[in-house]
Amino acid sequence: MELYSWKDIVTHSKPTDLWIVINNSVYNVTKYLADHEHPGGDEVLEDQGGQDATEAFEEIGHSDDALKTLATYKIGTVKDPDQKPVKKDPFAIGKGKESEKKE
Ligand code: HEM
Repeated sequence: MELYSWKDIVTHSKPTDLWIVINNSVYNVTKYLADHEHPGGDEVLEDQGGQDATEAFEEIGHSDDALKTLATYKIGTVKDPDQKPVKKDPFAIGKGKESEKKE
């Protein structure tokens, strides 16, 4: 499996090119999103693009089934976990408009 730096990971934040990080594993969820397979909806995935989604993912209490599905999208591991960009709010991220919509 590949090692990816945060500098690289953060660039994969578009719906057409979407990576997320959970517990320092890197997942390319572009296809999962494109196929609208997520029971929790597209938007939460888009919001987490190019970022560490560990807290958001675990907060939901995803099932073993969800973990199995997640594993199939793994492309590698974070090379420099200490370089992780700081998130203001781990649960409402980045794209102003999207997070405003939520409440
Ligand atoms: C590739 C990554 C992910 C996979 C494979 C995945 C998979 C799933 C699955 C299978 C469910 C159905 C319930 C269950 O089996 O636990 C689910 C529900 C849900 N997921 Fe995810 N999930 C992912 C990422 C995320 C992230 C990053 C978030 C939050 C930011 C999130 C939020 C939710 C929510 C809110 C539900 C509940 C939907 C409902 O019951 O109304 N998921 N997810």
